[in-house]
Amino acid sequence: MDDIKTLGVVGCGQMGSGIAQVAASGGHETIIRDISEEMLKAGMTRIRRFLDSAVNKCRMEPAARDATLAKIKTTLRLGDLERCDLVIEAVPENVKLKKDIFGDLDVICSQDTILASNTSAFSITELAAATNRPDRVLGMHFFKPVPVMRLVELVKTLDTSDATHRRARLFVEGLGKTAILTKDAPGFVVNLLVTPFILDAIRAFETGVACKEDIDTAMKLGCGHPMGPLQLADYLGLDMVLRIADVLYDQFREKRYAAPPLLRRMVAAAHLGRKSGKGFYDYGKT
Ligand code: CAA
Repeated sequence: MDDIKTLGVVGCGQMGSGIAQVAASGGHETIIRDISEEMLKAGMTRIRRFLDSAVNKCRMEPAARDATLAKIKTTLRLGDLERCDLVIEAVPENVKLKKDIFGDLDVICSQDTILASNTSAFSITELAAATNRPDRVLGMHFFKPVPVMRLVELVKTLDTSDATHRRARLFVEGLGKTAILTKDAPGFVVNLLVTPFILDAIRAFETGVACKEDIDTAMKLGCGHPMGPLQLADYLGLDMVLRIADVLYDQFREKRYAAPPLLRRMVAAAHLGRKSGKGFYDYGKT
């Protein structure tokens, strides 16, 4: 049984709102903090839409939806996370921003509070160094879409204590997710493996091996993937794929992590995938 009664989530984007939703569904009092009222509203709308759709599909009782929503509070003040047992940071991938938040949370939260990051790109050790509690800091990496994907990577640094890892694992398993343990190594496990796969698909498209639809169909029907690699790149955001590729290349200097020129050009042109309306595919909005 996990001992996390109250969860704080910093950042109410797709990942933060998804994490808050699954935590509240799992019975945790959940406080989401963002710096903008609009982001909080958009995140709560996303959560309500998902829960309403579960009710409409008779997968959830209306009372369970209402109970989940009642467990979520929103705030603009980081100080309101003071009484949380665990805080998960899920703000945009900007290392300075994340370090500042970890430094502030270290002052605000009690000594027992675990501080976790959902980062895909940055070193957890670097974030832990912004605090005076590196033994109570770890990575807790969820996958998109959070309510659907069953994996969470728990990332232990050299300083993360076994007790912190145990508490985090019990929390994650209590949400119905499966946790795996990884070292604080670039890309952890999933992005280390999926990034060269996506980059190779872009290279195959760029060099004309096949058209984009056929590349995606090949991996869906030939290998049973739920999405083809170019569809997945659009879904994750091409800027996110590029950022992770650059981090991996910077660390390993291996060709398989080098971003293809086409990816860099698409990001420069703001063809970022679903979120901008255009990536490898057109999503009919700008
Ligand atoms: N939020 C919540 N639920 C969602 C959702 C979202 N954004 N998108 C889809 N779903 C739910 C749907 O409601 C539906 O639920 P039911 O089965 O209960 O009806 C279910 O997922 C299937 O959805 P759809 O029928 O609309 O579409 P689909 O069958 O194509 O599934 C998908 C959509 C789940 C996204 C699927 O295509 C998939 O699994 N894609 C691969 C996603 C993936 O690989 N994610 C990991 C990326 S790596 C990452 O995240 C790491 C990182 O750091 C970058």
